[in-house]
Amino acid sequence: MIWDTHALGGRERYQLLTSLVVPRPIAWVSTRSADGQRNLAPFSYFAAVSATPFLVSVSIGSRRGEDKDSLRNIRDTGAFCVNLATEAQLAQVNETSGEWGPEVDEFVMAGLESAQADSVDAPYVAGCPAVLECRVQQIVALEGSPNTLVIGEVLRVRVADEIPMIPGTHFVDTAALRPVARLWGDLYTTLGDLPALERPAV
Ligand SMILES: Cc1cc2nc3c(=O)[nH]c(=O)nc-3n(C[C@H](O)[C@H](O)[C@H](O)COP(=O)(O)O)c2cc1C
Repeated sequence: MIWDTHALGGRERYQLLTSLVVPRPIAWVSTRSADGQRNLAPFSYFAAVSATPFLVSVSIGSRRGEDKDSLRNIRDTGAFCVNLATEAQLAQVNETSGEWGPEVDEFVMAGLESAQADSVDAPYVAGCPAVLECRVQQIVALEGSPNTLVIGEVLRVRVADEIPMIPGTHFVDTAALRPVARLWGDLYTTLGDLPALERPAV
């Protein structure tokens, strides 16, 4: 099977993209609006971009031609937190993905406690074992796309004390974190086998 992506409809392109670029980690993005309303929603167009500076990106689509609440808040405050969602939080992640209006506080809706980030003006999910506090570095309008790429500099990383670190390093014990990732449609996945391979000696 071979497809010319320009010959496909948007739905088909979306289906191919989201079923091939997998598994995608989930940025559970928490923000605050200009008038102080909390917001929380999951985004799986989420990637590591750079370690120095410490950058991550989230690609946010539009809703009926308008910015989603997360993007509007990010534009207004220049801040967001990426809560790294875990297996135990999957149902709540899904609950916060509803296309609610800006007046809805998804923390309340999903029964989640929030706390205030120290380094940026955004809330985070208090029960999330790993959180990235981000300041907007760039907001990139993607030519011809309804999506907007938000690049954030992670100013502060929070990892819960009960998550072990690999001794002598800043590697988090990923298996203990139990991250959850998105496939396509309503499918998710968790960490499976963790094969270890030494890099070739050159
Ligand atoms: C697991 C998951 C991943 C999602 N990833 C994205 C994404 O990468 N980009 C996007 O625009 N919407 C994504 N969505 C949909 C948003 O979560 C949804 O539009 C949400 O209502 C946006 O909330 P907001 O208006 O409060 O920002 C995803 C939904 C789920 C359940």
